[in-house]
Amino acid sequence: MNEDLNLPMGDSLALREAFERAGQGQVFRFFDRLDEDARDRLLKQASEINLAEIDRLVRELVLTDSMVEPNVENWQPAPFIAAPVHGGDLNAWRKAEKMGGEALRNGRVAAFTVAGGQGTRLGFDGPKGSFPATPVRSKSLFQVFAEKILTASNRYHVAIPWLIMTSGDNHESTVRFFTENQFFGLESQGVRFFQQGRMPAVDFAGKILLQKPDGLALSPDGHGGSLRALARSGSLDLLKESGIDIISYFQVDNPLLQPIDPAFIGFHLMGESEMSSKMVCKANPTEKVGVFCLREDQLEVIEYSDLPEKLTLEKDESSGELRYRAGSIAIHLISRDFARQVGGDDPRFRLPFHRADKRVTAIDSEGRVVEPDSPNGVKFEMFAFDALGFAKNPIVVETLREDEFSPIKNAVGIDSAESSRQDQLRQWTRWLKAAGEDIATDETGLPGFSFEVSPIFADSKQAFLERWKNLETRPAIAEGTYLE
Ligand code: UTP
Repeated sequence: MNEDLNLPMGDSLALREAFERAGQGQVFRFFDRLDEDARDRLLKQASEINLAEIDRLVRELVLTDSMVEPNVENWQPAPFIAAPVHGGDLNAWRKAEKMGGEALRNGRVAAFTVAGGQGTRLGFDGPKGSFPATPVRSKSLFQVFAEKILTASNRYHVAIPWLIMTSGDNHESTVRFFTENQFFGLESQGVRFFQQGRMPAVDFAGKILLQKPDGLALSPDGHGGSLRALARSGSLDLLKESGIDIISYFQVDNPLLQPIDPAFIGFHLMGESEMSSKMVCKANPTEKVGVFCLREDQLEVIEYSDLPEKLTLEKDESSGELRYRAGSIAIHLISRDFARQVGGDDPRFRLPFHRADKRVTAIDSEGRVVEPDSPNGVKFEMFAFDALGFAKNPIVVETLREDEFSPIKNAVGIDSAESSRQDQLRQWTRWLKAAGEDIATDETGLPGFSFEVSPIFADSKQAFLERWKNLETRPAIAEGTYLE
């Protein structure tokens, strides 16, 4: 009997045979040379693998040439609710804000961060959420979100739980980061961490890769894995017990976003939507963001690389604007019952996996570690936005890039720590100018010095104006000023 695995010896044999039958026997190539602990480790990982799923994905995504030119005849740009500054109906926005505010006061909303990614482009040593993002205090991304959630909790006089999805690689370090920082002022029992699923990488022949003799090359199953993980971790049951039916989903890399947005929640409720998304107008035709489209009347996010060039460049004849301009910024509202449906086992609601060709450190048939310089394997990932295709009444709501979108993806250049830091400064400068302060900036709105506004001081322009107006003494804004 193998105690650790709770797997009778017969079963471990059966597992090895199942891999053999599935053409994945190489996983146990070094098995006979391993000591007992190492064998247990490998068997445990192998028992996590759904061989039928891998077999299907290998056939559909690895061994077939899936580069079929899409038929774009029935494609349309997706409609969206325009922001008031772009002609949106101000009354509708006011009504939505009120309705969302009520839902918040009634305790119907939880925040949800997907933080299980590997953050390879940023190359930071640690969970991406612990990356120092703000200009003066170098607050981590997690701290920025924590303070925004705390501010919303105080505003609506309600505890707003925060779900954080991690992965096997960063779970412990993420929990430790919160513990060491006293949960940034939040009640620790209001923050719930859970891990997403993992998928094995395969080579271009579809064979599961080994990272070491007793370990598979496993990686997180994509942000779309969050739906499964919400269900499997018991989080949806807990939300139900607490009367929460709206999940406010956002990524870990964008310090400008509003984790809790009453108007967005209000539109989601008014539209009786099962899943709603925010968009910004694309900065330029080739910006690398997915685009909201209607395909056969169904809302979808099409990845920038999959949108045919003709549509990417197409302009509206009267306004001259890009027709396909609704860029996805990965902020969604997801109804709890819908998350259960899409995160469950019903094949009718199964999120598709996508193929990503990556460099995967793996061992060769002799057990030597190979660090490839070009992609040598395929990872399988699900995307959260694919759930839109299953949602009833999905809606898209516009937000302004300068208010809500400046992700930290790369070490330098576009979407880097520096570009995000500058965007934060520009935002606070706009708030100060709206309050009547005179701040010198360059033509992009960037001031010549660094300062910082804590989300505890103000988390939006509206909140800032209110707070600034009521200050008895207003501080001079200069290098290093920190408003709290
Ligand atoms: P990205 O697609 O930017 O990936 O994730 P990444 O892993 O952070 O970075 P790269 O591509 O390796 O450089 C967008 C969001 O989805 C989360 C990330 O943590 C981030 O918040 N994510 C991504 C997951 O939670 N799990 C995943 O498997 C993938």
